[in-house]
Amino acid sequence: MNNLRVITFGTFDVFHVGHLRILQRAKELGSHLIVGVSSDQLNFSKKARFPVYSQDERIEIIKNLRCVDEIFLEESLELKAEYIQQYHADILVMGDDWEGKFDHLQQLCRIMYLPRTPAISTTAIIEKIRD
Ligand code: CTP
Repeated sequence: MNNLRVITFGTFDVFHVGHLRILQRAKELGSHLIVGVSSDQLNFSKKARFPVYSQDERIEIIKNLRCVDEIFLEESLELKAEYIQQYHADILVMGDDWEGKFDHLQQLCRIMYLPRTPAISTTAIIEKIRD
């Protein structure tokens, strides 16, 4: 096992297996996984709706996963560089829905885009339940 610190970000609302798998794969890249969980307010400004699960509930779930070592509340999408430095991250992991979007942070750490688990998303689950 290497000594690398891995950081990733997300809302992780209505926690599902796609969320679990990306966190497990992120952890396999290093020895310490740090997760920035997006705040309720950040989600509201991004998607014009609040998450189904509150930030406190989402944080409680994520921080109790075996693969997660440390969590913090992500309060702004614009602060990725600051968070990377603050948490001394060696690798930033994002799902490949973000492919290329964080390449400008390459001077701070390695950027890796991992493939999403097919055919599952929080939005699809909400729609399925609603229907
Ligand atoms: N993710 C994944 N596979 C999926 C869904 C999400 O690997 N099927 C990853 C995303 O790429 C991201 C992290 O999980 O790195 C958190 O994603 P998030 O946006 O919170 O979850 P989604 O299910 O994509 O939510 P939404 O439908 O609201 O966009």
